Amino acid sequence: MSKPHWRPARVSDFLGIVAIAAQIHPDLPERPKVFMEKMQLYPRGCGVLVANDAIAGYGLAHPWKQAEIPPLDGFLGRLPEDADCLYVHDVAVLPDFRGGVARAYVAMIEELARASGIATLALVSVYATRPLWERLGFRPVTPDAELRAKLTSYGESATYMLRDLAGPQRPVG
Ligand SMILES: CC(C)(COP(=O)(O)OP(=O)(O)OC[C@H]1O[C@@H](n2cnc3c(N)ncnc32)[C@H](O)[C@@H]1OP(=O)(O)O)[C@@H](O)C(=O)NCCC(=O)NCCS
Repeated sequence: MSKPHWRPARVSDFLGIVAIAAQIHPDLPERPKVFMEKMQLYPRGCGVLVANDAIAGYGLAHPWKQAEIPPLDGFLGRLPEDADCLYVHDVAVLPDFRGGVARAYVAMIEELARASGIATLALVSVYATRPLWERLGFRPVTPDAELRAKLTSYGESATYMLRDLAGPQRPVG
């Protein structure tokens, strides 16, 4: 088995991405058009994990504003001109291909952010992934009522997290 690696997503990867999303996120479904919009608006943030010539995972990110959280299954409309973060919408990988791949995707997004003059990464952690994101340098933001309302569509476990890229290059837990 060849080592899984990330490459930029192409339009032809779309159905593969949607299939993995349906498998990994049955409780947080999004319409295929919502994925397509992100791929069209910001292809540079979209990657697929390739293993044995097949797609084993995907990562989607786009410029956004801190403390603004796009609702799950919602359209972005357009990207903000005054973006102050790269927002990682989702990283999802088939179970057999996990291990080091979220770190590799975040490293790519970090490089993209730096190249774009953006100094912060943002995401909403779901399920029990908060310790994983902390390991990658993200810190939870204590939500006020407004932030809590914006997190609603992501379910009970949702935590808004930020990573300041001025911090350590390779955080240790
Ligand atoms: C999230 C997901 C992509 C992570 O992939 P992965 O390849 O297992 O992630 P990594 O191995 O790169 O993990 C990153 C770091 O977190 C660590 N980590 C993983 N799980 C952890 C946990 N429960 N507690 C603490 N650290 C954890 C890893 O050891 C790694 O640290 P290291 O590089 O210093 O060893 C994968 O689990 C997945 O697809 N999950 C389902 C979808 C999902 O929850 N997506 C996230 C939505 S917010």
